[in-house]
Amino acid sequence: MAEAGRTRKQREKDDNEDRMLQERFRDFLTRIADGVVLVNRRGTVRFVNPAAETLLGRSAADLEGERFPFPLAEETSEITVTRPDRETRFAEMRVVETEWEGASASLVTLRDTTERRLMEERLRENQERLEELNRTLEEKIREEVDRGREKDHLLILQSRQAAMGEMIGSIAHQWRQPLTAVSLLIQDLGETYVYGDFTKEYLDATIRSALNIIQHMSQTIDDFRDFFRRDREPQAFSLRSIVDRALSFIETSLRYYTIAVDVDVDDDLIVFGYPNEFSQVLLNILGNAKDIFRERCTEKPVIRIHGFRENRKTVLTITDNGGGIPEEILDRIFEPYFTTRKRENGTGIGLWLSKTIIEKNMEGTLTACNVEGGARFRIEVGS
Ligand SMILES: Nc1ncnc2c1ncn2[C@@H]1O[C@H](COP(=O)(O)OP(=O)(O)O)[C@@H](O)[C@H]1O
Ligand SMILES: [Mg+2]
Repeated sequence: MAEAGRTRKQREKDDNEDRMLQERFRDFLTRIADGVVLVNRRGTVRFVNPAAETLLGRSAADLEGERFPFPLAEETSEITVTRPDRETRFAEMRVVETEWEGASASLVTLRDTTERRLMEERLRENQERLEELNRTLEEKIREEVDRGREKDHLLILQSRQAAMGEMIGSIAHQWRQPLTAVSLLIQDLGETYVYGDFTKEYLDATIRSALNIIQHMSQTIDDFRDFFRRDREPQAFSLRSIVDRALSFIETSLRYYTIAVDVDVDDDLIVFGYPNEFSQVLLNILGNAKDIFRERCTEKPVIRIHGFRENRKTVLTITDNGGGIPEEILDRIFEPYFTTRKRENGTGIGLWLSKTIIEKNMEGTLTACNVEGGARFRIEVGS
């Protein structure tokens, strides 16, 4: 009996504790952030905490006693909640078996993942937008680079064509005299024959002279052709020979404008690079000096070309007495298209192209400054 009494007391105490525990449990459930729903064996909702009410958009009173609207088969699943107010929420649902009021039941926890989903979606959208932007950016850059390359190419062509025009003039000039000489020789042949002085020796001498002249003319053509051939391989060349060649190309205009040229370049200065491009640079700089002389009607125009070694570099300076470069444009003259000339002559690419050739192709420097009475261009290349 005492045993039974104790047991009953014990049971009452246990019941009490059970009830208190359940109370505490309920209290605890009402405070947590996740939704909690208890569903009994028959699938009827027995308890709904406030977080679950919020998530499902229905009150506990409304839900309790109803069937739980989601299948409980899976341990965890993603569910989409369409609330009575038509708002859609997303949740992660976990189901564990538990005991509730003495019977087995399902404890359902619901974690609202709507915000997370929205964030993920937004992130994905941003990511896609970013990728798209990257793609179009790459394309744009490629297009721009292509366009830039195309432009450079056109400029180089344009400048070559301008130089070619000048050179055709030079060829014409250089040929005039030998052509006259050859035609005189031929005329003389005829006259000598008529007057009876025609000998084998005379004929041989005339043929030799004519061939010599023609050989010289043909050499001129070769020189010009070589100049327009692109240098394929960099090579060692004599600075002096390139200076002389460039001067011979513009000999005609130098003489026409009575421009004196003073050359002081040692024969043993050797430069490694592209000789034809290098002469193109010289032609540009010399051509600019000539243009300035003409524009400013310089009295006694002189160009001084000085080649020397300095700190393991080979330096070539071209100095004119044409009055110099206005200070305010000094740092712009190497920009492409920058020109101060009127329509006829100025393309504004000569110095830009020259700088490109010296600095990009030959790893040297091309700079400009003013000196007493004129401008000085300085080419420095390693050797
Ligand atoms: N020797 C020089 N003296 C004074 N100014 C010069 C000289 N060389 C070039 N310049 C200036 O630099 C500008 C750019 O030269 P350049 O690039 O060759 O183009 P362009 O000769 O077509 O004008 C010229 O328009 C001129 O104003
Ligand atoms: Mg020019």
